[in-house]
Amino acid sequence: MANSTSVRTVVVPAAGMGTRFLPATKTVPKELLPVVDTPGIEMIAEEAAGAGATRLAIVTSPNKDEVMRHFDEFPELVEILRARGKDELATKVERAAQIIQPVAVVQDKPLGLGHAVGLAESVLDDSEEFFAVMLPDDVIEPTAAMSEMIRVRQEHGGSVLLAVEVDPAHVSNYGVFDIETTEEDAVKKVVGMVEKPAAEDAPSNLVATGRYLLDRSIFDALRRIEPGKGGELQLTDAIDLLISEGHPVHVVVHDGIRHDLGNPAGFIPASVEFGLRHPKYGPALFRDIEEILEKYRPQLG
Ligand code: G1P
Repeated sequence: MANSTSVRTVVVPAAGMGTRFLPATKTVPKELLPVVDTPGIEMIAEEAAGAGATRLAIVTSPNKDEVMRHFDEFPELVEILRARGKDELATKVERAAQIIQPVAVVQDKPLGLGHAVGLAESVLDDSEEFFAVMLPDDVIEPTAAMSEMIRVRQEHGGSVLLAVEVDPAHVSNYGVFDIETTEEDAVKKVVGMVEKPAAEDAPSNLVATGRYLLDRSIFDALRRIEPGKGGELQLTDAIDLLISEGHPVHVVVHDGIRHDLGNPAGFIPASVEFGLRHPKYGPALFRDIEEILEKYRPQLG
């Protein structure tokens, strides 16, 4: 099979309205909110390039041009910074334009994740048998998970997703897997997938976490599904359709860090974790957090 070992295109759905971050997202796209100092969209670009991809297909809505602008070169800003001796900052500013080739795909209407992914078909080369989807809300570490998913596709074919275990009470926020074991502990065969079921109807507490390695046949499935949960075209439903037709789908069970940047309750811990790890801010932040914790312990501890 040609081109079977590396992923070329990563699709990044970034057309959402960011409602859980209003009022900040009235004017600032959610994907540009900084984790310490780097926006989520740049972190995803690094992860995609690290997995070997050369093209980032960013699905945006018509009023979110700033997401694409982040990947421009900003020569005047770089020149000013260099003239002032701020070389480290200049290098940071230049970075986004060097990571990967960004391509804009415009989604005119918010018709769902499945619709957004379907639009990206137009940017794939004819020879691309598979591609990846990375949801910028989901931060995962180690970021090498995609390489592991590529390995699993080489072994089992079909499509491979990343899964995490969540508290059974929270499954209704996710696409949930019905699974069977394989010879490998961290790899499960998916026999069904359901989008945001009620806790009592969920087939497991193993859920999709924003990394998909999809066979090209997903586009055909996306054309055949009806609006599902929330009246939107769901990627989960297209994957479930493929499974029902015998397409192999597996999950790699993620054993690492995961943060949800899509809402303040996940964004704040992500900022704390990345902040603590930052050589410049970490040590002082640690002391600040200790003080803050002491202050709030009587109320919240
Ligand atoms: C989307 C998917 C869902 C998946 C989740 C992971 O939901 O539809 O299947 O589990 O991302 O973050 P969203 O969070 O966009 O509602």
